[in-house]
Amino acid sequence: MRTCRGLCVVGLVLALGFCLKGGFDSAMAQGKPAPVGEHVIHGSGEDPWWKHAVIYEIYPRSFQDSNGDGVGDIRGVISRLDYLHDLGIDAIWLTPMYPSPLVDFGYDVSDYAAIDPLYGTLADFDLLVAEAKKRDIRVIMDLVANHTSDQHPWFRDSRSSRDNPKRDWYIWRDGKGPGRPPNNWESWFGHSAWTFDPATNQYYYHYFYKEQPDLNWRNPEVRQAMYNVMRFWLDRGVAGFRIDAVSRLFEDPQLRNDVVVPGVNAYGDPNIRHKYTDNLPEVHDVLREMRHLVDSYPGNPVLISEADEPNISELVKMYGKNDEIQLPMDFQVADVNRISASGFRRLLREVEHNPAHGQPLYFFSNHDQQRQWDRYGDGVHNDQIAKLMAAMLLATPATPLMYYGEEIGMRTTPPARKDDVQDPVGKLGWPVEKGRDGERTPMQWDASKNSGFSTADHTWLPVPPSAAEYNVQSESRDANSILSFYKRLLALRRSEPALQGESCVFLNRDDPFVLSFLRKNPHHGESILVVLNMSPQPRQLALHLVPYGITQRTATVLLSSPQPSSQSISPANLTLAPFAVLLASVR
Ligand code: GLC
Repeated sequence: MRTCRGLCVVGLVLALGFCLKGGFDSAMAQGKPAPVGEHVIHGSGEDPWWKHAVIYEIYPRSFQDSNGDGVGDIRGVISRLDYLHDLGIDAIWLTPMYPSPLVDFGYDVSDYAAIDPLYGTLADFDLLVAEAKKRDIRVIMDLVANHTSDQHPWFRDSRSSRDNPKRDWYIWRDGKGPGRPPNNWESWFGHSAWTFDPATNQYYYHYFYKEQPDLNWRNPEVRQAMYNVMRFWLDRGVAGFRIDAVSRLFEDPQLRNDVVVPGVNAYGDPNIRHKYTDNLPEVHDVLREMRHLVDSYPGNPVLISEADEPNISELVKMYGKNDEIQLPMDFQVADVNRISASGFRRLLREVEHNPAHGQPLYFFSNHDQQRQWDRYGDGVHNDQIAKLMAAMLLATPATPLMYYGEEIGMRTTPPARKDDVQDPVGKLGWPVEKGRDGERTPMQWDASKNSGFSTADHTWLPVPPSAAEYNVQSESRDANSILSFYKRLLALRRSEPALQGESCVFLNRDDPFVLSFLRKNPHHGESILVVLNMSPQPRQLALHLVPYGITQRTATVLLSSPQPSSQSISPANLTLAPFAVLLASVR
């Protein structure tokens, strides 16, 4: 959860007629959706669906506006389901659409069992689930479990008096004296995590904004209430949850001070290490209970955790004994923040061999992070690097999580002036921390007004100027575009058994510039060699594959950027252009 970047961030040419291996769906190649219901169900019959799924995060405010109010909505998402199906998406994760005062744009929920009228109605939601299902797309909800809105009836009751039955649903404590909060705990969004409430003369705790009071997960009634929320949505047919801020569910009951470390943050507060407010072991009891609950539903519902785990040991704990989270988001991989063959190789190997045998989940962008096009781009080769990142995401055995617009190379476009900022994080931290508006701008569909996102004269965030060039319509017509590259890669994921297996053998393990790996075919057919030049220089590479059971000396190019001079190449003698991406079949 890299929400405060000011604090945390340190710092093929593809011809249209390019010969793709047999099995490439010709309807997809022509940009037409495959007929409804004909998506290949891939992987071994015993694997749960999420192991092979491509998940796509939608920020509903910004995906498609259907009623011209300048804000995206559910009917807008429905109108774009064919696009997602055509792209090869298996599941969508929708960030919160619950009723909310929108202090944190939906992550401050005032009713967990309804849809905010801004986005539509529950009937619209049911229609979305049904229409998505017709296209073999599952719907994953965002579960904001750590906190509610201060406008939620639970909190209103809780704050009304010290003896209200809901008092203990939140975390209320006495201060240390006038104007002195109970301890030094800090909000992720700046300043003290305690807010004084004069009505009852106590402080309440909030890891995020003061309008987002933390629920008290030590209270069994709170747990049951939140599990009922999960049942409510599972009963409506959702395929699982992305659990928000999960590592922050518990705090130290003794209220010990967090550890102060050198320096100040973007808000001018002393830096602290969240020793007593993050990743407490009690989190895992809750995760087991949640898993037990989803496992009682048919269809293998999935739990995805948002938790910015600092290292592999902490990440692995999220899997439990295969009785907690199936897909913990891997922030370490997401935030390498530079193209580094050694850096990625180390992290990928670590998580792919994790002792829990858990399935990794990779992503590079989301609604809290600057987009990957900017974070990984070098300013010269950004489009080529976008393709390279796509291959890392989609050609490894991990479950990939895409963020809307990454497939067209959307870039981060932060507000130019403080007055234009929507995200309160940006208002508070300006200009060091400009907030998250830049990665939440409207989806770029075409070159028409508001890039096809909305007919309104004013959209909630402006459409970036880059939309004129980077949009779905123009990139669909361009065989060399980032979108065309994603489509081919996604199609290969479906058609190639080697890309569906678990095997991923890293080659040339000391090479500081080129990341290469072999995806072995579990059925003894063709394996796939993936070669990624992670440097701005051309590179020569000699890969010897005989020790891995590959005896043929030549390989057939399946996908490459830039385009090679020949479709038949020799792994023992490769010449790679700067940031080249190559996928080739070998036997
Ligand atoms: C998560 C969300 C982020 C939100 C925060 C508080 O990190 O991804 O957008 O601001 O939780 O709910």
